[in-house]
Amino acid sequence: MNPIVFLPFAGYPANYPRPRLSMLPSRSRFTRPRGAAFQPSSAFLGQADFFVYGRYALVEALARAGVGPGTAVLLPAYHCRSVVESALYRGAEVRLYDVTAKLQPDFDSVRALAADGKASAMLLTHYFGFPNALAESRRFCTERGIALIEDCAHAFYGRADGQTLGTVGDFAISSAWKFLPLRDGAMFLDNTQPRAGSRPNVHGESPPRIMKRRPAEWRREIRAMAGAVKAWLTRSPGKPAFPAMDFVDLAARARDIAGRPLPEKQLDDAQFDSRQVDAAGLRVSRWLTAHAPHHRVAERRRANYGRWLSGVARIPGAEALFPALPEGVVPYAFPLLTDAGGLAFHALKLAGIPIWRWEDVAMTTCAVSRGYRLRLLQLPCHQDLTDEEIDWMIDTLRGVMPHLLGSERA
Ligand SMILES: Cc1ncc(COP(=O)(O)O)c(C=O)c1O
Repeated sequence: MNPIVFLPFAGYPANYPRPRLSMLPSRSRFTRPRGAAFQPSSAFLGQADFFVYGRYALVEALARAGVGPGTAVLLPAYHCRSVVESALYRGAEVRLYDVTAKLQPDFDSVRALAADGKASAMLLTHYFGFPNALAESRRFCTERGIALIEDCAHAFYGRADGQTLGTVGDFAISSAWKFLPLRDGAMFLDNTQPRAGSRPNVHGESPPRIMKRRPAEWRREIRAMAGAVKAWLTRSPGKPAFPAMDFVDLAARARDIAGRPLPEKQLDDAQFDSRQVDAAGLRVSRWLTAHAPHHRVAERRRANYGRWLSGVARIPGAEALFPALPEGVVPYAFPLLTDAGGLAFHALKLAGIPIWRWEDVAMTTCAVSRGYRLRLLQLPCHQDLTDEEIDWMIDTLRGVMPHLLGSERA
C-alpha cells in the first residue's frame, strides 16, 4: 500500500491582495419564481441527512459502503484534498484512479485498481456541476459488487440522461454551502434503503446503525441566524470599484511570484476535523436550504457560466474545460485551463480575482491531475455576481494573457 503524499502548495495567500469579489455567494434572498422559471432538479432537497460539510457526509457514505481497514476505496486522482482525508479517516487503502482530460474516470486504470477484489467503493465526482460517466460507472460497480458513491459536492442540482444527479449511486453526498449563503451544510443520501426503513446494503450486510449526530450549540445557531438576517437586509453593494490595471506590470509581478522559491516549511493544510464527523449541520442552514430560491440560483449560475464562456472564447492561452452548458446542468464554478506554469493564476489573484485551485492533490502517476493542479482554475459564477463583475474578470484575463504567453506558451 503506497502512503498518500499531498503535493505542496505552489503559492501563498500572503502573495496576493484580498479578493475584490467573493468565491461563494453570501447574500440571502427569498424570491418566488415568476412565470415559467427554470426549476432545477435536486436529489438533496428531500429527506437527506444533514452534515456539517461534504467531507463528513462522505465518511458516512464510506462507512455504509463497507469501506474500512482491510478494504480499498477507488478515488479520482484529481480531487479536493478533504475527500482523500475522509477515506484515510475510515482506515481504508486509498487507490487513486487516473482521469481523462475531461475529468472522466479512465476505466483501464479503474479496472486495474479493482482487479484484486479489495475495493469496496468507487467515488465518482460530478466536477463543477457537470454529470460524469454515470452509466458506465454504475455498470462497472454493479458487475463487481462495488458500491458507487456519487460526489455531488459540485452538483447540488442537475440531471443527466433523465436521471437526477445523486440518485444513481448507492450513496451520494452534496455540499449545500458551496451553492447557497450558508455557514455549513451538506447532505448524505443512502439510495440502497427506503427513506425511513433499514435494509441490508448492496453487499447484503446490515447497514451500520445511523450515528446519532450531535446538534450544533444554540450559541452557534443564534450567530448563524443573525448573520443570515444581516445578509438578507444588506442591499446590493452598488457599483464595485475596479481600478484601471497595468497589465504589463501585473504580468511582471506574476512572473516574480512564480520565480520565488517556496519556503522550506510547507503549510500543513489538513482540512479534516475528526470532531465534526458525528456533528449535525446547523438547523439554520437546513432551514435556509429548504427555503432558498433555487430557481433563481440555477438561472443566475447558468447565465453567468454562459457569460464566461462567450467572454473567454477568443482569449489566447485560456480554454474552458467544459465549453458547452447542457440543459439541466447548474454549474458550481467556471473551470478554466490556462498556462502550464500557473502564471495566469498568480496574475489574476494579484488583480483581486477570487480563484480556487487544487494544488495539494495527492501525488499519483496521473498526468492530467499533475497538470491540472496548476493549470485548472476554478472561477466564480455564483448567483450574487453581476454582469459587470463577470466582465471585469474576463477583461482582466483578456488584458494580461498576451503578456504572460511570451514567457511561457500555454
Ligand atoms: C469535489 C469535492 N468533493 C467533496 C468536497 C468536500 O466537500 P466539503 O467542502 O463540503 O467538505 C469538496 C470540497 O471542496 C469537493 O470539491
